[in-house]
Amino acid sequence: MIKAATHDSIAEAAEILKNGGLVGMPTETVYGLAANALDGEAVAKIFEAKGRPSFNPLIIHVADMRQAMQYAEMNEYAQILISAFWPGPLTLILPRKKDSGISELATAGLDTIALREPAHPIAQGLIKTSGLPIAAPSANKSGALSPTTPAHVHDSLGDKVDMILAAGACQVGLESTVLDVSGSVPVILRPGAVTAEMIGQKLDMEIGFADSEDGSEAPKSPGMLLKHYAPNTPVRLNAIDVQEGEALLAFGTDKFMVSHDFPEEMKRNLSEEQDLHEAASNLFSMLKELDKCGAKQIAVMNIPQTGIGIAINDRLSRAAKRD
Ligand code: TXA
Ligand code: MG
Repeated sequence: MIKAATHDSIAEAAEILKNGGLVGMPTETVYGLAANALDGEAVAKIFEAKGRPSFNPLIIHVADMRQAMQYAEMNEYAQILISAFWPGPLTLILPRKKDSGISELATAGLDTIALREPAHPIAQGLIKTSGLPIAAPSANKSGALSPTTPAHVHDSLGDKVDMILAAGACQVGLESTVLDVSGSVPVILRPGAVTAEMIGQKLDMEIGFADSEDGSEAPKSPGMLLKHYAPNTPVRLNAIDVQEGEALLAFGTDKFMVSHDFPEEMKRNLSEEQDLHEAASNLFSMLKELDKCGAKQIAVMNIPQTGIGIAINDRLSRAAKRD
């Protein structure tokens, strides 16, 4: 059931969470599938609804740093980054406090915990009204694209979610940056809108990315498994032309790619102005639209590997991976 987010529907959603149910929760990044993080059975419903492998730990959404400190051991890096970037699209991995009450399933048995204070007022309202820490992965079937509208959540999960709080399209459109600050050196596990440069500037150090593709050990962030963000239609990256039967996902002008009579439903433009933030917010919904247009493949134009473009390319290369 999709309900417009209001004072009353937020209160109703908070009750659903307290009673062990699932709520589709808008955040500034993507819609989350929310459950009470203290309630293991409610958390299990998340994995069941998503068809997600249970080793994949969830982000716990909190109202502020004080609440975060109930569940994690703080350190100086985390404190600096929290004052700089919370509320916002930065998830911090920290050592988990023993006896914090957070379900072991939510953290997949790890001795670390992922925490984030979302900036979206409706997410904030739901956390505060329920008084709970909220476990929420993206509200889609495992391996599918992350939802950026209430309709995406409904299409992917249907009746498996008790209520979807609808608050329009997500502003950022890409999942949060995941930064591991539990070790001696902070490292990015998943790129997002808060970039390595932004983090490095605050901490006065160079910030690197974890290599999840070397195959030498289990990926530290299991959500970084290859082929995670995948449409059904094959994806071809860095296209400089459009081949027979292909759809086009453009960035900037598409004048040199297709003729003016190319079918409208087979092309989308992430950003005609080459604005990377606009492109990020359009990425998943446009991929989904092109996934339905009947093309044999989606040709994607080159996206600059800078700023949030790094995160866009990360998601695109996963979308392009075939098994
Ligand atoms: O923007 C977002 O982060 C959205 C909204 C709803 O907040 N949530 C989201 O959650 O994208 P999810 O579950 O799809 O991605 C969480 C990522 C996964 O890659 C997971 O493996 C990683 O965070 N993660 C969670 N806990 C972790 C931990 N303790 N150590 C390492 N990685 C962890
Ligand atoms: Mg996800």
